[in-house]
Amino acid sequence: MSLVTTKQMLLDAQANGYAVGAFNVENMEMVMAVVGAAEEQKSPVIMQTTPSTVKYADFDYFYANVKVAAEKASVPVAIHLDHGNSFDLAMKAYRTGYTSIMIDGSHGSFEDNIALTKSVVEVCKNGNVPVEAELGKVGGKEDDLDGGDGGYTDPNEAKEFVEKTGVDSLAVAIGTAHGVYKGEPKLDLNRLSKIRELVDVPLVLHGTSGVSDEVVTECVNRGICKVNYATDLRIAFTNGVKKVLEANPDTIDPKKYNAQGREEVKEYVKARMVACKSVGQAK
Ligand code: 13P
Repeated sequence: MSLVTTKQMLLDAQANGYAVGAFNVENMEMVMAVVGAAEEQKSPVIMQTTPSTVKYADFDYFYANVKVAAEKASVPVAIHLDHGNSFDLAMKAYRTGYTSIMIDGSHGSFEDNIALTKSVVEVCKNGNVPVEAELGKVGGKEDDLDGGDGGYTDPNEAKEFVEKTGVDSLAVAIGTAHGVYKGEPKLDLNRLSKIRELVDVPLVLHGTSGVSDEVVTECVNRGICKVNYATDLRIAFTNGVKKVLEANPDTIDPKKYNAQGREEVKEYVKARMVACKSVGQAK
């Protein structure tokens, strides 16, 4: 299959009560692991890269990897810019051929966030590329982007934001944070339901590593249609590599330890697709 956009994917998820997992990929093995998991689970899937990932290797490296994965796959695959932090970066993703773009203006004022989001939506709609925005602040650290202490999404502001920007999906802040949690995260599920009542576009959950599968499924039942996972994929990959190197410290073939990293990421992703209720939803 060719790469698809997240537009139809997320609308289908919304109509049928499941969410599409969006997994941050940082090398070829992680791309192979995520698409392999999606194939086994017959699930649609989104692979995404952050600004720091595309700084490490350019957009086209990741685009090429995910494009090949999509073309070999029998399930729908989209490539998404996660936390695009400027108009220019969003445009670079758009020109590269990314099939979904996040512009994150959540660190500015409500008005500035609207203006920035609208400017990206205006361009992307010419190529039918859907745009995700964020309102409220998901706390913690996403790569080198510091989300600060967080601040929950106001449901009425969310409604106004979506109407004024024409955005295709909205990331909401309901108590999750990026990175590793120090304690059990407490989510404001009633706030999520209230936002769902007032806002008609698909809703996105960020900072999901470390949130229990039960809570994720509850969020999906209350209207989340895209669930982002990053930190736990890094941990899974690194654990796999460490396992091989600890058992055989003389290993010099990267294929040997990367293959184990790939395997651990694949198993992790397969389990999260169950939590998102996307198993068997590939159309
Ligand atoms: P985690 O690193 O907490 O999984 O967050 C991922 C995320 O929200 C990417 O945007």
